[in-house]
Amino acid sequence: MASPAFTVTITHVEHYTESYFRLRVTRPEGLRFVSGQFMMIGLQLEDRHIMRAYSIASAYWDEELEFYSIIIQDGELTSRLQHVKVGDEVILSARPVGTLTLRGLKPRGKRLFMLSTGTGIAPFASVIRDDEVYDKFDEVYLTHTCRFVKDLTYGFDRINEAKECPLVGEEATTKLFHYGSVTREPYKYEGRITTLIENGKFFSDLGIPSFDCETDRIMICGSLAMLHDTQKLLDVLGFDRGSNSRPGEYVWEQAFTG
Ligand code: A2P
Repeated sequence: MASPAFTVTITHVEHYTESYFRLRVTRPEGLRFVSGQFMMIGLQLEDRHIMRAYSIASAYWDEELEFYSIIIQDGELTSRLQHVKVGDEVILSARPVGTLTLRGLKPRGKRLFMLSTGTGIAPFASVIRDDEVYDKFDEVYLTHTCRFVKDLTYGFDRINEAKECPLVGEEATTKLFHYGSVTREPYKYEGRITTLIENGKFFSDLGIPSFDCETDRIMICGSLAMLHDTQKLLDVLGFDRGSNSRPGEYVWEQAFTG
C-alpha cells in the first residue's frame, strides 16, 4: 500500500447524487502533475490508513486539487470518505502518475475523443482545462455515459467551467463538444458509448465523420469491461494503444485495470 506523503485540508464537498460527490482539497506546495494523471488519496484512521487511486479532476494550474468519487456503501474508503466535511483532513501520496495523458498520443491528430463512464470523467475534467489540448487538436469531444440523467451533472458543470475559464474559455467554446448518454432511463442520447459508436448513432447525433486512426486520438476511462469493449472496437479500426514511452492512437489508465 502507498504511504501518505501529505496531509491536506478539505475546502469543498459537493454531493451530486446518493452515489457521486466531489472533494476539493488544499494543494501541497510544489505538487506538480500532468492533466489526466492520478494519485492515491485516503484517510488516516487510528491504527492504519486507507488509500485508493483517484484521478485528479482539477486543472494543472488550479490552486486546489479536485477529486470525483463514487460512494460504495460497503467500500472501505468511500463508506467513510462520503462523510467528510470542509476542514477535515485527507492524506495524499507523494507523486501523481499515470498513462492517461496527451504524452501517450501520437502527434498530428486533428480530433481528440475522451470516452468516459461514471467517475471516469474525472481525469478529463482536468484535460479540458489544459491549454495544450486546444493547441494540439482542432476538435475536442468528451463523452460521459452514466446510468441516470442526474449522474451527468458533474460533467455538465465542468464543461461550463471550461467554457468560462480565463485560460481556455475562448477555445473551449468553439472546440469542445460534450456528449452525455444514459443507459437506465429515457434521454435524448441513450445507450452505452460502445453501442453508440458501433451503430454509428454517436457520430450521426453529432453530425461528424466516424473514427479514423490517421486523424483521431482517443483517451478512455471507465471500468475494466468498458475499456476492453472499447478496445475491441478500436482494434478493428486500426487504432494502437500508446504509452508514455511509445505513443499510439489511444490511451487508457492502466492503474484502474488491475
Ligand atoms: P449499463 O447501465 O448498461 O451497465 P456503473 O454505474 O456500473 O459504473 O456504469 C456506468 C455506465 O457505464 C453505465 O451507463 C453502464 O451501462 C456503462 N457500462 C457498464 N459496462 C460497460 C461496458 N462494458 N462498456 C460500455 N459501457 C459500460
